[in-house]
Amino acid sequence: MYERPDRLRAPSVFALGSLAESAGAGFPPIVVPAQAGPRPPDAGRATDGADEFERPSSARVYDYLLGGAAHGAVDRELGERLKRSQPDAVGLAQENRAFLRRAVRFLLAAGIDQFLDLGSGVPTMGNVHEVVARSRSTARVAYTDVDSIAALHGRHLLAGVPTATYSAADVTDVDAVLGAPGVVEVIDPARPVGLLAFSVLQHVPDDAAGLVDGYLRRLVPGSALAVSHFTDDDPRLAPDVERHTGGYARTTPRARDHAAVAEILRGVDLVDPGLVWVDEWRPDPGRPPGPDDTRGHWAGVGFRR
Ligand SMILES: C[S@@+](CC[C@H](N)C(=O)[O-])C[C@H]1O[C@@H](n2cnc3c(N)ncnc32)[C@H](O)[C@@H]1O
Repeated sequence: MYERPDRLRAPSVFALGSLAESAGAGFPPIVVPAQAGPRPPDAGRATDGADEFERPSSARVYDYLLGGAAHGAVDRELGERLKRSQPDAVGLAQENRAFLRRAVRFLLAAGIDQFLDLGSGVPTMGNVHEVVARSRSTARVAYTDVDSIAALHGRHLLAGVPTATYSAADVTDVDAVLGAPGVVEVIDPARPVGLLAFSVLQHVPDDAAGLVDGYLRRLVPGSALAVSHFTDDDPRLAPDVERHTGGYARTTPRARDHAAVAEILRGVDLVDPGLVWVDEWRPDPGRPPGPDDTRGHWAGVGFRR
């Protein structure tokens, strides 16, 4: 269990590391400079009225599955439950991140040089700005996530990266995301944007297709959309999503079938190979597709007409 951040106030720092140590959580130390105030404005803002430090969060469980350090005991507990109960929870996360890297490399090669990442999670373990840097690109990246701990880590990790920002914002609020200071800072709305929605729209319970349409309408033609979406279409996996993830801080992920995910991508022309299993989307040469039990996400990339 986490200690609430308001118990961690110090005159000039907000040291999440000490919280983590006391909770045995393994956070790397985070120090927010004095001019930022004793407590980041988003820290501890519960996403659903509950205390998000005491309940596992999708961002942090995902970080745990990927081998990152930005998680606490409650997140590890759910991560372990997922590992035991789902055929390959770690493989699912790794294949999703591998798709993220391939999709971003593809979009960079296609000329996209600014990315808006929705529901980014903790921006480590091979995330967008790292792919950009490895590609020797100067593309800009605006990360967003509703999870305040992910945002806190994000800001800390990106402190020395002038081309990337991290904003706490709810993907379901298009105006809030597009108007977030970090997004306004790095994204030029007059030019094509790479809109990234990796494994996040399953947290949008209702009209995810309409929501994505709302984003696309605000982006200029030539902008791109990359989506991966959790599914239980493969009967061999048949994951009981609610049972496995019902403890998440905000919402229980909603698996969608191929047709419903295709609907989410209705506003773009999909590039080859279309909407496919995540490991089948333009696999790296010489790398075989993932094992069958990692096929828990549909994936597709397209360009706005
Ligand atoms: C499975 S993780 C995916 C992280 C990252 N996009 C990736 O694919 O590597 C899902 C992320 O969605 C975020 N999320 C869930 N509901 C959200 C919402 N309403 N608005 C923004 N982010 C949300 C979670 O906090 C979490 O970081």
